[in-house]
Amino acid sequence: MCAAYSLQMRSACNAESGEHMCGIIGYVGARKVLPILLGGLERLEYRGYDSAGVCVLQNGKIVWEKSPLSMTSGEKVKHFASTLNAKKFDGTTGIGHTRWATHGEPNRTNAHPHFSSDGKFALIHNGIIENYQELKKWLKKRGFRFRTDTDTEVLIHLIHKLYRGDLAKAVAGAMKRVEGSYAIGVISTHEPGRIVAARLMSPLIIGLGKGENFIASDSPAIIKFTRKVHYLEDGDFASLTADKISITRQGGKRVRRKTHTLTYDIAEAEKGGYPHFMLKEIYQQPEAIADTLAGRIKKNFAGVTFGRLGITDAWLKKCKKVVFVACGTAYHAGCVGRYFLRDVIGLDAQVEFASEFRYFPPELDKNSLVVAVSQSGETIDTLVAVREAKKLGAKVLAVCNVQASTITRESDATIYTHAGPEIGVASTKAYATQLAAIYLLGISLGELKGKIKPAARKRWLRELSEIPRLAQRTLEKTKLIKQCAQKYRDCTTFLYLGRGYNFATAYEGALKLKEISYIHAEGYGAGEMKHGPIALVQWTYPTMAVAPRGKMYPKMVSNIEEIKARNGIVLCVASENDRAIKALVDHVLPIPEVSEELSPLLAVIPLQLFAYHVAVVRGCSVDQPRNLAKSVTVE
Ligand code: G6P
Repeated sequence: MCAAYSLQMRSACNAESGEHMCGIIGYVGARKVLPILLGGLERLEYRGYDSAGVCVLQNGKIVWEKSPLSMTSGEKVKHFASTLNAKKFDGTTGIGHTRWATHGEPNRTNAHPHFSSDGKFALIHNGIIENYQELKKWLKKRGFRFRTDTDTEVLIHLIHKLYRGDLAKAVAGAMKRVEGSYAIGVISTHEPGRIVAARLMSPLIIGLGKGENFIASDSPAIIKFTRKVHYLEDGDFASLTADKISITRQGGKRVRRKTHTLTYDIAEAEKGGYPHFMLKEIYQQPEAIADTLAGRIKKNFAGVTFGRLGITDAWLKKCKKVVFVACGTAYHAGCVGRYFLRDVIGLDAQVEFASEFRYFPPELDKNSLVVAVSQSGETIDTLVAVREAKKLGAKVLAVCNVQASTITRESDATIYTHAGPEIGVASTKAYATQLAAIYLLGISLGELKGKIKPAARKRWLRELSEIPRLAQRTLEKTKLIKQCAQKYRDCTTFLYLGRGYNFATAYEGALKLKEISYIHAEGYGAGEMKHGPIALVQWTYPTMAVAPRGKMYPKMVSNIEEIKARNGIVLCVASENDRAIKALVDHVLPIPEVSEELSPLLAVIPLQLFAYHVAVVRGCSVDQPRNLAKSVTVE
């Protein structure tokens, strides 16, 4: 991976609420379509993996198969593919879907594609049809029989009902009556060799081939075949044949969409020799952080540059308040950012869960900067928070990993993290690079506002540029972590404690453990421990403390003493040569010496590895933990 790494892995859709995140793919051309659909679905598995289905147009019929996917098998779509009778499918036009259910359990019936009652139309959908109950009633009155519990099924009956010899018109007519969000692909035996697609609030790209064309939720599904893509806009309809693509708006007006070239390396989307994407991504962190920093630290640490950011220095200089909004791991990056801005540059800084922000926004005005942190750039709550912030007059800066994702397109400016594709559902390198980008932003703001003097700026930037090397060193201490994972594999609960900058690290470490190993873990501010969690402390309730050297270190030591006094077991992320901690706790997970402010960049690494190894020894599905998805595009 290089600094100029250009990532166009778009991920996930952004439905307001409801049915699914899901991955969709479609192909029209001259090749046998089945392997293209299955290969694409495999690459889209991170978007949802509870059931999958494919259908192919051939000899005036739609041939299909769908199935729930095994929750225990690591090879979900692959396993589904192995159960198919490939000989049955020899057509060259088809669509496929991998689902993440919320409406209707993940069984074969509810899996996509969905079909019209005459079997002549088939559809895949990603999103939610909010008025589906109403439409269902209306359709039922007109004799349509429903087979599934999904919201999606209304779409295919509507299209069937409205079809008068032009599939594109029927789709446009149907979508006019629909409230909600969708990326859809539709085929019909009436119009072989054609796919009609539409998008509203859920991502959809068109891949342009020679004598073949594609639709997909995300580019990894099709990059093997083409690097030329159009990103559909909300409200676009597309009609694809092997040689022609036409994009229209409701009413039929033709529009042109820019052709983008995908430049990322195909191998990036593969595991590259690691047993899991998560491990690969943990080990990629030194490089990923270096890529985030690359080109942004001026020579001789003379300052920070983001190129043409889209928000001027003059505006940033005047900005009075910064509010980070994000979800999940990205929220934890925002927590660190808040302290850095408050502590180092004395700026009014807050952090909010995007899911709360959208309903209870803080006071914002034209001098406020909202920083939307999102790996995917498609998380619906963060997207809606961005819209809300703009409505309230604030400027919005995205810190994002995915180029041209919806959040980046709707924000005033974006700092890309350049982490490369993150496939493991549990976020690791995205977090580290979000932190790196936020530190750069903080240093730049501090300098613009005259709160960081040149000597301090130089010190910060020098130290930041050392982080990739220090992260590498941290990664070399994994043996001990593996041993700890073995030892504590059967624990049922864990307490994670941190303070100050590493308050968020404790939360992030706990999140990693519960996400992938299914062990209950509670992140807590160490100072708050005595107000509750301490009641639980005993030898069966181990604590993971994050206590590198710094301002909060003596406080952390006292909190650890309190636990040890009650026979609690303590594992501790600490500075590598800290003898006092070594004498106090049961196991030290060492990190190199680094300033407390930047320590979250290193302190999280042992916690990621601990969670990873515990999950592995417990036989969990590391890259695709149950019930989770990479991008949460439902409210
Ligand atoms: C999901 C993922 C998390 C991620 C969160 C926010 O829950 O599993 O890893 O932190 O969404 O996603 P975003 O793409 O906005 O960073």
